[in-house]
Amino acid sequence: MSGIVILGTQWGDEGKGKVTDFIAQKADMVVRYQGGNNAGHSINIDGKKYALNLIPSGVFSPKIKNVIANGVVLNPFALVEEIEKLTKQGVKDFQLYISDRAHVVMPYHIELDKLEEEYRGARKIGTTKKGIGPCYSDKHSRTGIRVIDLYDDKLLKGLISDNLMIKNLIFKHFGKPEMKVDKVFAEMKKIRTKIQKYVTDTSVLVDDYLAKNKKVLFEGAQGALLCIDHGTYPFVTSSSPTSSYAPVGVGISTKYIDKTLGIVKAYSTRVGTGGFPTELLDDVRLQNYIRETGREFGTVTGRPRRIGWFDAVLIKHTKRISGLTDLSITLLDVLTGIKTLKICTHYTLDGKKIEHIPASEKDFLRVKPVYKTVPGWTEDITKVKSFKDLPKNAQNYVKAIEKEVGVKVSMFSVGPDRKQTIEINKLF
Ligand code: IMP
Repeated sequence: MSGIVILGTQWGDEGKGKVTDFIAQKADMVVRYQGGNNAGHSINIDGKKYALNLIPSGVFSPKIKNVIANGVVLNPFALVEEIEKLTKQGVKDFQLYISDRAHVVMPYHIELDKLEEEYRGARKIGTTKKGIGPCYSDKHSRTGIRVIDLYDDKLLKGLISDNLMIKNLIFKHFGKPEMKVDKVFAEMKKIRTKIQKYVTDTSVLVDDYLAKNKKVLFEGAQGALLCIDHGTYPFVTSSSPTSSYAPVGVGISTKYIDKTLGIVKAYSTRVGTGGFPTELLDDVRLQNYIRETGREFGTVTGRPRRIGWFDAVLIKHTKRISGLTDLSITLLDVLTGIKTLKICTHYTLDGKKIEHIPASEKDFLRVKPVYKTVPGWTEDITKVKSFKDLPKNAQNYVKAIEKEVGVKVSMFSVGPDRKQTIEINKLF
């Protein structure tokens, strides 16, 4: 057995790319199973910085097979751009496979995403405007275009035509330019040739690897709290980053998921709209300090992230919906120098103790966090090589998280570089 799912336990941006890259060095295959180029993974290797959006984090080793599975929504233009950018940075010899069943983010999805955000007004979600929601909507309405459909001219043109018949009515209604079938068809025909060599039945490929006991890493994008089913709806993405979705998003048996590693930031962040009980609204100085030190600006949109204390209620929610077996704490170094740290253990709502995220966003906005405090540390921890090298207070902070969440901490990281990731328990 050799399948590990890595997922973000919060609202995304937990540093999954970096942890995945670290573990990927021992893997034979890395698989993306949901989301699209709304994801942004930053990876630092020997002082060089890389940003990945669609491409799995195993591309830095030519031995690893990288798979974009059926659960992903694929923008072929963005993919080609990403490949060109990586090539320019010297990352050329990678193995990439794209599922023929993945749905394609079409140019009209992007325009619809922007438009929907505009007319939602005060209820806007704060999407990345990459067309993710409209693409998943079409998938579920059964009007989507899959990668395989790109290579059947008659079908492709027919599908574009059917879609634009409705979508152009919407564009027209809102005074936006309509799209021409022939133009979109020509654009898709041009781009499809650039990705054709990667297209295959990835379900068969991954299943074969797992059956041979190869080490396969399933890489979740976003974070579990952005899950369409179990996240903080409606301020979520349109797919499910949970480990439970991985088998569906890849086309493999559930029996292959051995471990689920939850990536958790040493504090909390959120981009976009929605409730955030531990947000540091009353301490702008500390919020700015953490944002600057932790480089907390969106990789995809550049937006400043909202900052808050560590919230154990959120991670326990993810533990329940995703069955976490291990935790990896990232950005521990960012907390160095803060005198007293806080961990939210539960909430209260109208005077009652709450240990779960309420389904109602209105209630989620009203809950009051209850904290336990842990003394901080001042020592530089960016060069530590093991758990016992950490100052006592930093060790206690890690142990406090472990205790509150009830999942063992198997890794932690103390800086952006690959070398600043420390494994306590071996994953592979
Ligand atoms: P969408 O996925 O672009 O539709 O955006 C829906 C919500 O998910 C917004 O709040 C986005 O900011 C958030 N989101 C999407 N992808 C990511 C990510 O990779 N990290 C953090 N937030 C994300």
